[in-house]
Amino acid sequence: MHDAVACGSADAMLVCGGLRKRFGERLAVDGVSFSIGVGECYGLLGPNGAGKTTTISMLCGLTERDEGEVSIDGHTGGSLEAKTAVGYVPQDLALYPDLSATENLTFFGRLYGLSGRELEDRIHETLELVGLADRGKDRIATYSGGMKRRANMAAGLLHRPKLLVLDEPTVGVDPQSRNAILETVGNLGIAVLYTTHYMEEASKLCDRIGIIDDGKLIAEGTAPSLIAEHGGLDKVQLSCAVSDLDALTTSCRALEGIHDVREVDGSLELTTDHGPALLPAVVAIAARRGIELTGVEVRSPNLEDVFLSLTGKELRD
Ligand SMILES: Nc1ncnc2c1ncn2[C@@H]1O[C@H](COP(=O)(O)OP(=O)(O)OP(=O)(O)O)[C@@H](O)[C@H]1O
Ligand SMILES: [Mg+2]
Repeated sequence: MHDAVACGSADAMLVCGGLRKRFGERLAVDGVSFSIGVGECYGLLGPNGAGKTTTISMLCGLTERDEGEVSIDGHTGGSLEAKTAVGYVPQDLALYPDLSATENLTFFGRLYGLSGRELEDRIHETLELVGLADRGKDRIATYSGGMKRRANMAAGLLHRPKLLVLDEPTVGVDPQSRNAILETVGNLGIAVLYTTHYMEEASKLCDRIGIIDDGKLIAEGTAPSLIAEHGGLDKVQLSCAVSDLDALTTSCRALEGIHDVREVDGSLELTTDHGPALLPAVVAIAARRGIELTGVEVRSPNLEDVFLSLTGKELRD
């Protein structure tokens, strides 16, 4: 067994080690290892084609892995026990459009061996949880994109899994449904594996984030720790009349705590440890020199900067 799996702590809900998957010439997943604690929300953040869906398909036992080990709730990945512990919410909708949400959930519930009153209660509870209790009788085809996504999530939650795996659940979803989905996921209290290419979602929702690119997990940690380690420094952008740029540059270079001053697209960009702390000094210098600042913007690094610094690429297409 792979080390990462063997060493998985007793309170890990999921442990995977050395996952590898090749499609012909393409190595889609190249040695991915991580673990998710009980009740922890873990984000797999990466751009299109990074290997997110292939990774979770292997974790859920839907795609055979070429190499690597998976353990879910102490059971070997692919076993019936491991599959039962997981609620999988696929990237593409997995619902019958001509059936209502309740009918869809009845179908999925029976596959999990639920029936009668217990199944009815579960369906009601789950629809309530995803905010669709009043629309259960409507056909899926009549739902908005966001409602379809929420119904898709209900299908993954119906059997009360210990680990919910969501594959980009908010793509193409209106802001209201997006917030509803994020809120529901945030309040579940079970372990969650959440794949996304939206860094704001990963930052907001996930206890820990694994950044995946080209099939490899290239960094892992909490959002603040990833940003502190790889995000770089604050940037302060100053705009003024072109004729004042040289004078402002000279003055800013003399300020304390400045790492770099450069002209970017006709504005001045200062690199510093803490942008907000610099502002009073910048404003005072401009006033003293008689320079009118027409724009001031402070930007702290985010996960986008982390991705850029690790890969040299933008996270978004
Ligand atoms: N069934 C398949 N046959 C051949 N290649 C595949 C298959 N599934 C995935 N791939 C390739 O493997 C790589 C990883 O794909 P994957 O779907 O895992 O990425 P992803 O991170 O989920 O991307 P997205 O954000 O677009 O959903 C891509 O280059 C993709 O083209
Ligand atoms: Mg995908």
